[in-house]
Amino acid sequence: MRDPNSIALPGVIPVKIDVSDPASVSAAEAHCGDVTLLINNAGIARVNAGALDPALIDSAREIFETNFYGVIRVSQSFAPVLSANGGGAIINVLSDATWFARPMLTAYSAAKSAAWGFTNALRIELRESGTQVLALHVGFMATDLTKGLEIEKSDPRQVAAHALEALEDGREEVLADEQSNVVKRSLSTEQAYDLKPPAMA
Ligand SMILES: NC(=O)c1ccc[n+]([C@@H]2O[C@H](COP(=O)([O-])OP(=O)(O)OC[C@H]3O[C@@H](n4cnc5c(N)ncnc54)[C@H](OP(=O)(O)O)[C@@H]3O)[C@@H](O)[C@H]2O)c1
Repeated sequence: MRDPNSIALPGVIPVKIDVSDPASVSAAEAHCGDVTLLINNAGIARVNAGALDPALIDSAREIFETNFYGVIRVSQSFAPVLSANGGGAIINVLSDATWFARPMLTAYSAAKSAAWGFTNALRIELRESGTQVLALHVGFMATDLTKGLEIEKSDPRQVAAHALEALEDGREEVLADEQSNVVKRSLSTEQAYDLKPPAMA
């Protein structure tokens, strides 16, 4: 969140952070020495004409800066803080797009797949310091990002509740809605979702 003034919740101390800016991430880390739970939620999406869109490379660079390099940057910065505070946990907010690329979201999907790979490596590495790393996958949610999209969306409050429940259960991956379950379950079948998506997907 880049504008702390946009948050007015009792008991919450907003801290400015731009995950695409190393100096901003370091400054946030310096302010937050008591962190025990890091949620890499910051994310952007850009719609392209498809995989052959000449603008795709520029979009991909922009998206990767936040959705992939941002996750790496913030995780690397806060991992020592979590470790110093007893281990704690990281939740990386991913997507059903981790395993299924809609052409108009080619770059977004690629960035989520990349972030999933990073999450899996991070999990193994941070076991040593007792930091639990949870990947949260979810299909469309009703947030600002999807405003105006006429499609079924889940309630982000329920998604957050599922994620926290999974964290408390010591899990490492949570599929927070039916869509992400359907996509992941299909991967080992001949009709895998990424190979033969339903017409409306
Ligand atoms: N909505 C969906 O259908 C859906 C589905 C699956 C996964 N996700 C994932 O869920 C996460 C949250 O998305 P959302 O749906 O809540 O989107 P959103 O309503 O657009 O919110 C995105 C949030 O990310 C922050 N952000 C973006 N770039 C940032 C940066 N460089 N540094 C710091 N903060 C930054 C934004 O803060 P600013 O106020 O600074 O812009 C905003 O708070 C994302 O990772 C997204 O990919 C969303």
